[in-house]
Amino acid sequence: MYTVDGVETVGVVGAGTMGAGIAQVAATAGYDVVMRDVETEFVEDGLDRIDDSLGRLVSRESLTEATAAAARRRIDGTTDLADLGDADLVVEAVLEQMDVKQDVFASLDEITPEGAVLATNTSTLSVTTIAAATERPGDVVGLHFMNPVPVMEGVEVVRAETTADPTVSLVDDFADSLDKTTWESADRPGFVVNRVLIPWVCEGIRAYDEGVASKEDVDTGLKLGTNAPMGPLELGDHIGLDVVLDAAETLHDELGDKYRPPVLLERKVDAGHLGKKTGCGFYDYAE
Ligand code: 3HC
Repeated sequence: MYTVDGVETVGVVGAGTMGAGIAQVAATAGYDVVMRDVETEFVEDGLDRIDDSLGRLVSRESLTEATAAAARRRIDGTTDLADLGDADLVVEAVLEQMDVKQDVFASLDEITPEGAVLATNTSTLSVTTIAAATERPGDVVGLHFMNPVPVMEGVEVVRAETTADPTVSLVDDFADSLDKTTWESADRPGFVVNRVLIPWVCEGIRAYDEGVASKEDVDTGLKLGTNAPMGPLELGDHIGLDVVLDAAETLHDELGDKYRPPVLLERKVDAGHLGKKTGCGFYDYAE
């Protein structure tokens, strides 16, 4: 493990599943991390998630107890965005709503030092539009982590129309220091991964809804037929069906009718059956 020269403090905005995962891997690599969410309760939930995840990594001997404890000590939680004032790099992982993200970036532009890199973990929104909320769009880039962040090797680097080359190099180096492997995408809806993965999940839901196969057989077919670790319905539950629907709606708005979300996905979200995080989605996780 090593840290990138010039990056000592990493700010993370959002302490949900993705934000907490990003804070965890950054702290494990040796960065000081300030993780911010809007309510104390959300910050505490994020810190609990990190404790659980570090505990899992220790119990399967991927991390020593001392390394996990040191990582945990490097993470401060806060509800005050101004506490990210010393960050050399910020990764934003808040709600997938453009107005919310633009507000965060406009504030980060004022709070963070000149030259700090501002990255968004957006899954489908335009990084160029997010960057336009700042006076320094060259410093803004997409850094799209995969869920679960501590386990998944890949990170997508999204080059906005305005991103400067040194910004891309810095986040590439940062991802490498976290022991992750990157690929680059242009700023187009869904980038590489979600442009392909979200329709895959949606098509699995449609196949089930249209009676092509049971949900178990849709998942088994795609798992065994393609060596994927999870089938599409299982993966939808893992990502969160609300997240899948948001992403599908963005792809549909921007790329047209073939990306229309399935009605059953909308109904599941209406019902609050969002997948693992609510204990029920296509499958039951109550136990
Ligand atoms: N923290 C720490 N460790 C974790 C963890 C976490 N949050 N989640 C899982 N693990 C560990 C487990 O402890 C386990 O360790 P072991 O192999 O040493 O026992 C290992 O990871 C595997 O976990 P499980 O045994 O519980 O279950 P699986 O073998 O089924 O693996 C999985 C779980 C890694 C999630 C695997 O099913 C998988 O890779 N699924 C696909 C995930 C995927 O595609 N993610 C990308 C989604 S797209 C995305 O994120 C983009 C967004 O914009 C939508």
